[in-house]
Amino acid sequence: MGSDEAKALIDAWVGREGAGRDRLLPLLHNVQDAIGYIDDALVPAIAAALNLSRADIHGVLTFYHDYRRQPAGRHIVKLCRAESCQARGGAAIEAIAAERLGVAMGETRRDGQVTLEPVYCLGLCAIGPNAMVDGRPVARIDAAALDRIAIEIAA
Ligand code: FES
Repeated sequence: MGSDEAKALIDAWVGREGAGRDRLLPLLHNVQDAIGYIDDALVPAIAAALNLSRADIHGVLTFYHDYRRQPAGRHIVKLCRAESCQARGGAAIEAIAAERLGVAMGETRRDGQVTLEPVYCLGLCAIGPNAMVDGRPVARIDAAALDRIAIEIAA
């Protein structure tokens, strides 16, 4: 989607849903759903459409982990970093995931095939450590599960 199209999408959304501070999070979700990420170049258009400052938009984008600032890979693997999954070996799983998938946490692999991201609780705490693979929850994740995910991603 080009810059003009993105701005048209923002204006159309605000026309339907209204402007103001309380509309910022829903608008950002809408932009991310439509484009896949929130380009810094769109911040002025978002600020203008909602009558907020650019600093307001940047503050929200940097505070919430859910907003992606760069295009994601074709596959998105999220690993839970919240307390219960960490107590069940989440840190070790994160290291194995980085090795098996060939990408560091918070990064997209150079071939664009996979992005590895943290998530903070998937609501499956009793059966962790947990992951989300392209929107599908994977419970009790271990090295074998990560091998299967790596094969799935390579296909
Ligand atoms: S702490 Fe990981 S799913 Fe809740």
